[in-house]
Amino acid sequence: MTPTTDQPFLFVAFGATGDLMQRKLLPALFRLAERGLVHRSYRILGIGRAKDFDDAAFRKSSAEALKGAGIPAGSPRVREFLAALHYQAVPDFSAASYAKLGERMDALDREAGLESNRIFYLALPPQAFEPTISALGEAGHNRARGFVRLVIEKPFGRDLVSARELNELCHRWFSEQQIYRIDHYLGKETVQNLLVFRFANSLFEPVWSRDRIEQVQITVAEELGVETRAQYYDHAGALRDMVQNHLIQLLTLTAMEPPAKFDAEAIRNEKVKVLRSMEPLREEDVVFGQYAAGVVDATDVRGYLEEEGVAPKSRTETYCALRMSIANWRWQGVPFYLRSGKRMPRRSSQITISFRCPPVAMFQPFGSCAVSPNQLVITVQPDEGFDLHFEVKAPDEPLRMRTERMHFRYHDSFDTLPEAYETLLLDVLQGDPTLFVRADEVEASWELFSPLLEPSKRAIHSYSAGSWGPPAADALPAREGVRWANK
Ligand code: BG6
Repeated sequence: MTPTTDQPFLFVAFGATGDLMQRKLLPALFRLAERGLVHRSYRILGIGRAKDFDDAAFRKSSAEALKGAGIPAGSPRVREFLAALHYQAVPDFSAASYAKLGERMDALDREAGLESNRIFYLALPPQAFEPTISALGEAGHNRARGFVRLVIEKPFGRDLVSARELNELCHRWFSEQQIYRIDHYLGKETVQNLLVFRFANSLFEPVWSRDRIEQVQITVAEELGVETRAQYYDHAGALRDMVQNHLIQLLTLTAMEPPAKFDAEAIRNEKVKVLRSMEPLREEDVVFGQYAAGVVDATDVRGYLEEEGVAPKSRTETYCALRMSIANWRWQGVPFYLRSGKRMPRRSSQITISFRCPPVAMFQPFGSCAVSPNQLVITVQPDEGFDLHFEVKAPDEPLRMRTERMHFRYHDSFDTLPEAYETLLLDVLQGDPTLFVRADEVEASWELFSPLLEPSKRAIHSYSAGSWGPPAADALPAREGVRWANK
């Protein structure tokens, strides 16, 4: 049973009427309350620019948002949750607006006995992070009688310089212990399970190195295109949007050394060590792509350049494949192939560990290891679980081998998995930063990718929507005789 938060709190959500709040945060907060996991005394204060909005309007729009997430209005639980919602207009970054915010927070504290415990959640466009943090700090809202925590959504910076600046600004007002940088992949059960899988089972760890592993692949494929997010995405691209954060989290958890303890600092120290051991990326180890019109799931879809809001000659990548190397004792010489793309044939996030061939190719003429090396496929989503591929002798003569699988599926053993945001919000409420990105971690990751961010240096290869990316991406592992898994 997950522990209940033992302190009352005020959750201050900047971007109260935005997409993230409506689609993810409100449903997650409701489910935590419904499951009895949060303290009985809490309030949610939505912050927006609109002055003609009030508590009633916010409750109404939130009821709609919950309905959209499959939580019908009308039950006593929903009514109770909606009654805990409030709205405060903060139309600008002025001292007067933030002083008013302070008065409102104090009033809610008194009214509901919240002991001045506050969480500021910035569900805002990235350009609003800096002025909001400064305004909070200058108004003195970075301290209170109770705890104060600051939650920042991704993207955390656009490159190394801006990430450093943002870290400096955060640290001017908040201590690192108060800051929670979100990467929602860390909230996924299957991603957390990487630690349990590796460090609670003695079977895999002894083979988890260059001695037994030949190559590792990490794929995060999406069926969706850019949707309605071109305004953001066309300035970001797959490297910034997915690789620098989500895929790097999968990589560091797969490659890290066992932490000294199961605590936030020990785990994050090990992740940072992996990033610091990565070899610099070379241009020839990266392939960028952009989807052209094609067919996804039997439906014709348009190309990226025809999507609404995309610049007509945009060179933003919607696909990125890389070959990465970790220069440490465990992984020296083992290539890590990463790829992520939009408008792929299906939604699939997988980590594939390919083991080396047996040292003597005893069965070579009948079915060689080069065709089917032992593989461990960890499926992050959908159909969460893992498969271990191994060779068996097919009955009868002549001697033939077949690849079979042992598998585990979450849905066979457990009820529905919690949404990543439920896990992460509960951790923020409990003050556990393990699943959040530390300042040095985010900078180490940007440091790695910064040389690739310069648009003029990139060739952008076209690929048809519904394909697995441009042919140039197949050529990348093919140099070492490797093919992408899960085709
Ligand atoms: C977000 C990206 O962080 O992750 C999106 O900005 C992407 O572009 C999304 O679609 C993918 O998340 P998930 O949980 O659906 O794999």
